[in-house]
This record gives sequence, structure tokens and C-alpha cells, in this order.
Amino acid sequence: MNAALKVGVVGGGIGRAHVEAYRSLPEQFEVVAICDLDREKGRQLAAAQAIPRAVTDFGALCAMDDLDIVDICTPPSLHVAQTLQALEAGRHVICEKPLAGSLREADHLADAEKRSGRRVMPIFQYRFGHGIQKLKLLIAQGIAGRAYLTTVETAWRRRAAYYAVPWRSRWATELGGPLVNLAIHGHDLVYYLLGPARSVSAHLATLVNPIETEDCVAAALEMADGSLCTLSVTTGSAREISRHRFCFARLSAESNTEPYRNSHDHWSFTGDSPEIDEQIRGALAAFVPLPEGYAGQFSRFHQALASGSSPPVTVADARASLELITALYHAARTRAPVELPIGETHSLYGGWQPPGRS
Ligand SMILES: NC(=O)c1ccc[n+]([C@@H]2O[C@H](COP(=O)([O-])OP(=O)(O)OC[C@H]3O[C@@H](n4cnc5c(N)ncnc54)[C@H](O)[C@@H]3O)[C@@H](O)[C@H]2O)c1
Repeated sequence: MNAALKVGVVGGGIGRAHVEAYRSLPEQFEVVAICDLDREKGRQLAAAQAIPRAVTDFGALCAMDDLDIVDICTPPSLHVAQTLQALEAGRHVICEKPLAGSLREADHLADAEKRSGRRVMPIFQYRFGHGIQKLKLLIAQGIAGRAYLTTVETAWRRRAAYYAVPWRSRWATELGGPLVNLAIHGHDLVYYLLGPARSVSAHLATLVNPIETEDCVAAALEMADGSLCTLSVTTGSAREISRHRFCFARLSAESNTEPYRNSHDHWSFTGDSPEIDEQIRGALAAFVPLPEGYAGQFSRFHQALASGSSPPVTVADARASLELITALYHAARTRAPVELPIGETHSLYGGWQPPGRS
């Protein structure tokens, strides 16, 4: 499969960044249509990015015969229904986070994907930064050794202007707070490198903005590999940072702290001995830099479709991130540790939103 795949993007907010990433990969993708309820916004994006078609009706987008992929960049509460509709129309789906509002919905999407013969790829573009990719390589080559302790800080700043967008800050439309929509990336990076948690405790508070959901989180995780991890999240940080710090038996790794690029270079890797430092230097000298961010995820998706392998991010990956979210909300509300995995009989399997709010 060498021809460029034809993409239709729905949602012209962050969808604009998706379009720019596709346009940086012209041999792999061609954006042929944009869909936005806001006709003028869609038209302007189409004109600015040389996209031939602009429509307002999602059904009309899905019905376009020549589309290979529908890329969903709409508010969170629309993701499940639109993913199902696009699969039914025979398209592959790329969907922004969060993929779904519950584990039940995630499981339903996994079944629908299997039945469709098409692929669903949730977005976790931070995975493809060169800093995190280098640490992934050091782990894969056995240079890092076992994990001891991980700390993650997502300290961002959000004020009234951010919440002026009507779908934000409400359980029914945003599906959760910064745990679901902001820190989901930083937390996914922990799962990407170390695998899932087996037990979590958490405290949540709403301190920064008058919103329905949490905006500060302090959580402690015991990972399935036996290591420990702390997660902290706030939208009240005057200076914004994202920070990952991994302490392994043979090295420690620390990200840069740029809030929205901390998975990119530069990370520091410190070996526990001069010999390990030498191994780190040798391994990183062979590091092959691939595209990062959205372009990194999309180009790998193209390769996966061509080779018939799994997408670089799967529905199972998105489900794992939603399982962590479910466990953290439950732990905070019950003020007790929560064991994972979370199965169909759990009281929050159908959604972590408070009763009457979903
Ligand atoms: N991965 C990331 O780093 C990242 C960054 C920002 C946003 N997001 C996610 O992207 C999604 C969209 O967020 P945003 O900030 O772009 O929101 P937004 O409100 O800025 O844009 C959403 C667009 O979707 C359009 N829309 C809404 N319903 C529609 C429908 N039924 N059919 C067609 N168009 C419709 C709106 O008119 C709007 O233009 C959210 O899930 C958000 O969490 C991800």
C-alpha cells in the first residue's frame, strides 16, 4: 500500500494541528475533506490548508466514497458515537482523547473495531517525542534495569478563558476534569514505558476554577512491575511545567519541563556507573529519529496499515488509560486504595461521572 491515504477530519479546533501534521507527510496522507458544524470555521480551514471539500454534516463526511480514514477531533462526549458511525461506513478511525467516557464504552468500541475489519487508533501523540523514545530504547536494550520510582508532574495553567468554551468543565460534555483531558498524556507515558498499575490511591480537589470536576490531583500508584509512582496534576500553576522523572536500577532519566513538549528532547540520562554511562552513549548513538507528535503517530499508523500490524496506539492502550482514570476517581471518592484490573462488575465500569451527570 503505497498510495496516500485519504483523510476526512471532523472538528476544526485541534483538528487544524492534525491537518498540518498530515500535510507534512504528503506521501502518506491527503486531507480531502473537513467537517465542522461551524460552516465558516470549516470553510476557512479548508481554504487555508488547500482542502477541497468542507461540509457541516458528519454523516455526509462518512459517506464520501473515497475516504480511507475519518479523524475525529470533536468534543469528548461525541467520540464514541462518531467512531461507531465511521466504522459502520467502512472507514478507519483516528480519534482524539479521551476515546470514551467509560470502560464499558471502550469495550464496546473494541468489539465494533473487531467486527468492522477496520482499525481504530486513539491519539496519544506525546508517545512519539524523541526524549521518551530514547528512554524506551534504553529499557528495551536492558540498559535501564528494573524500575524503582517514577514521578510525574502536570502543572499547567487554565483560567476563565479556557472554560468559556461551553463543552469544557462539565461532566456531561468533557467527561471529566484535567485527569481525563490534560494529564491523560503524561500518565499514558508511564503506562507506555512501565505497563499498568496494580493499586492506586488518590486525593482530588477543585481549588483553582469554579468547575464541576476536579482541578488538582495527588495520586500514588503501585505498578504491576512492583515499582512505585506518584502523579500530581493542577491547572493552577503560574509557571507551567510537565516533568517526568524515572529512577531505574541502573540509570535515572529526567524529561525537559516544557509543558507541551516534554516528551521531546532533551532528556538527561544518568548511569549508575561510568560503564553504564558508556552503554547509554553507545545505545543513543544508534537512535534513529522518526517524526514526533501527531506526525509521528500518523506516519507509524500508515506503516501499520500497510504491513497489517497493530496501530502505534490501540484501543487497548486507550482502555488502560481509562481504567487508571476510573480507579483514581473511585479511590478518591471512597478514600481507599483501588486494585486493578477493573472488570465488568465494578460499580464504575459504566462510567466515573457522578450519578446523573453523564
Ligand atoms: N491530543 C491533544 O494534545 C489535544 C489537544 C487539544 C484538544 N484535544 C482533544 O480534541 C478534542 C477537541 O478539542 P478542541 O480543543 O479542538 O475543541 P474545540 O471546541 O476547539 O473544537 C471542536 C470543533 O468541533 C466542532 N464540532 C462539534 N461538534 C461537531 C459535530 N457534531 N460535527 C462536526 N463538528 C463538530 C466544533 O464546531 C469545533 O469547531 C477534545 O476531545 C480534546 O480533548 C487533544
